[in-house]
This record gives sequence, structure tokens and C-alpha cells, in this order.
Amino acid sequence: MGPTLILIGFMGSGKTAVGKRVAHDLGWEFHDTDLLVEQEAGSSIVGIFEREGEPAFRKTEELVIFRLLDGRRDSSAGTVISLGGGAITIHKVYRRLLKEKTVVLLDEDLETAFSRSQNGKRPLADDREAFGQLYAQREALYRAVADIEVQTRGKSVNQVAEEIVGRICRRKDSD
Ligand code: S3P
Repeated sequence: MGPTLILIGFMGSGKTAVGKRVAHDLGWEFHDTDLLVEQEAGSSIVGIFEREGEPAFRKTEELVIFRLLDGRRDSSAGTVISLGGGAITIHKVYRRLLKEKTVVLLDEDLETAFSRSQNGKRPLADDREAFGQLYAQREALYRAVADIEVQTRGKSVNQVAEEIVGRICRRKDSD
């Protein structure tokens, strides 16, 4: 199985943009689980939440994550996976992430994350107070599964990607 790097973190922390950049720099494949959920459901995330609710969204999210991770067994390509910010709340996903070798947490300042999330595509980012509470509920989960934590405050996508690639290479050297 090829190397797998999994990006986690709250909504608006830059997982997709950074993940694409890291994948490009390493010459690896890139997968975004939000996009896979939309493809699987044939609907936007907002549409899924509106029509079927959050539990149905999480069910599809779990399905696409396990399909992706289990499908990697037969692949020798390197892969970067960007997970939706709430995937960590799915117990089976949380337990699986504990076993993965390279889980990278993007740690963004909450105000920046909130303002980036105001694009009409995130059903759980309507209200600033609820957004903060959600983060408080999840923060310990993110940190528990993370092998590498990267502070992204004030950094560009390229800077964060470079830092991740550097840290991955240093880890490989000391293996
Ligand atoms: C969610 C995060 C979103 C998306 C959905 C729910 C969450 O992904 O999966 O809107 O519960 O935090 P991003 O983290 O990519 O915004």
C-alpha cells in the first residue's frame, strides 16, 4: 500500500486547498471526502442536510471514507485525503484515524475559519456562537488522532503545504 496522508481540522481550516497543494508537490493523488459524499448522494451537502438531515450525511460520509481507505490496500500510489471537519465525530472513523500513521491537523484561528466558512456551502456554519461550540466539542478529538499539528494562522496555502511536506520528509528520514 502506498503512503497515505490524511488532513483533518475544523471547517474553514484550509484542508482542501492545502491538500491539493501537498498532493501536487509530492506527486500524489488527492481525494476530498466532501466531494465524494456529494457524488455518492448526487446532491450538494446543503441539499443533503435540507432533505435528509445530518445523520444521513454522516452515514454517507462514513461509507465514502471507509471505501476510500480500504480501497487503498491495492494501490501503491501516494494519496492525500482531505476529510470533512465533522468526520471525526463518527466513532468508527475516529477509531480508524487512531490507527493511521500520518494524520495532519490544520489548526486555524476560529475567526478566520468562521469567515472562510460563510460561502453558503456549510450548513453548520450559519451561527458564530454555535460554530464556536462545535469547535469546543471537537477540539480534543482532533488532537487525539493527530500525528502532526500545523498552525496555519497567518500562513498562505503554499507555506502550510511546504511545512507539511518538510515534516513528512523529516519523519521519513528518521524512520
Ligand atoms: C462539516 C464540515 C464540512 C462538511 C459538512 C459538515 C462539519 O467539511 O463535511 O458541511 O460538520 O464540520 P469542511 O470541513 O471541508 O468544511
